[in-house]
Amino acid sequence: MSSTVFKDQNTLHSDYVPDDLPHRENELKELAASLRPLFQPSSNSDVAFSSHIAIIGPAGVGKTVTVKYLLKELEKMTKQSSINVLVDYRNCWAIRSKSEIIRVIAREKFNLQSRGFSDTEIIENIISRLRSTRTTLLLALDEVWALKGDEIASILNLPTEYGGSHRISYILISRPQQFRRIEPVLSHRIGHVIEMKPYSLSECRDILKYRVSLAFKSGAVPDDLIEMVAETCAKSKNIRDGLEILYRAGLRADKENKDQLTPEYVRWASENVYDSMRYDTLGQLTLHELLAALAIAKRLASRQLVSVKLPDIYRQYKILCEEYKIEPRKEASFRNYLNKLVEMELVDKVITGHRNKRGVYAKYSLNQVSANTLMERLQDLLEEKLSKTHS
Ligand SMILES: Nc1ncnc2c1ncn2[C@@H]1O[C@H](COP(=O)(O)OP(=O)(O)O)[C@@H](O)[C@H]1O
Ligand SMILES: [Mg+2]
Repeated sequence: MSSTVFKDQNTLHSDYVPDDLPHRENELKELAASLRPLFQPSSNSDVAFSSHIAIIGPAGVGKTVTVKYLLKELEKMTKQSSINVLVDYRNCWAIRSKSEIIRVIAREKFNLQSRGFSDTEIIENIISRLRSTRTTLLLALDEVWALKGDEIASILNLPTEYGGSHRISYILISRPQQFRRIEPVLSHRIGHVIEMKPYSLSECRDILKYRVSLAFKSGAVPDDLIEMVAETCAKSKNIRDGLEILYRAGLRADKENKDQLTPEYVRWASENVYDSMRYDTLGQLTLHELLAALAIAKRLASRQLVSVKLPDIYRQYKILCEEYKIEPRKEASFRNYLNKLVEMELVDKVITGHRNKRGVYAKYSLNQVSANTLMERLQDLLEEKLSKTHS
């Protein structure tokens, strides 16, 4: 039997929701307060109620976990009362289309078959279910910016269009920059905006201490190491980095049969962790987006370049397609893949200002991530994806 520093390493996974959320008490209260009307008896009658909330904040400030925590609590509450509120959480970055979101919810929450039905028919079905059971659906849409503006607007409009305005309420979650882009289409439909700021050093310390107590055996992570990791998180303004570092440092300790993490492991793990928001979202890239990202990374890594022009990336992409025996897409579609990568902040796009004879052109570079690290990760994902489709 090999020994381990972990008590329960599952608690470090990104979708784990802990029983406590230190330093998000105010946000939770604020959220609960703006949802209170849902739980008033009058909302069970036909009095219109819908309160849409937006939660805005950069990566790694606890947006997702706070909402999941709240939904869990609400679910418990509704089970013990006569009030019918159905809660649901979806990550738009993973689903990517309004139509698909509606269908997944119909299937998983209402047991409705969606094949052969239009979006409108499905929505009408859902709303009539909600009305007949006097139920309100509280739907959290995470990374909502991944949908197109008109799709978001139309999702928000659905309940009103089909006469169920008080039957569906939304919590929209987004990073600030992306939110500003979609704001024009939704501003007047959002009743309440909650902004989450990065945690301070002492907040990071508290949160990491708590998470260490859930994940590690006592004594496995000395206080001075927690301090070290807290400083890293406070600097990167992303608490997820800390959890990721602890997880990797823990694996390393296990591998070397140590019963304690060391500063050396923590330093090693810190170097290996890159912005985990990007790391997470990489898994959701479509095949051609993956290829486009890989093309940029390869191009940058092989030439030690800082940025690269579109025609060069496209050429590299076509070579990759040939390597992997995939039919390349036309340049116009390819541009869309690049735009998606820019939108998710994996790639930076800079328009070079000076006009030469060929006009202004864009150059692409990697945002913070090292080209080599990214390349390795993308290649793994690509192979994973291809082996799935071939098997
Ligand atoms: N206040 C907190 N207490 C405990 N864990 C937290 C807290 N805030 C964030 N976390 C953890 O940090 C990680 C990042 O949080 P997450 O909700 O995914 O951030 P965001 O959605 O803002 O990018 C998750 O693993 C989450 O469980
Ligand atoms: Mg999130």
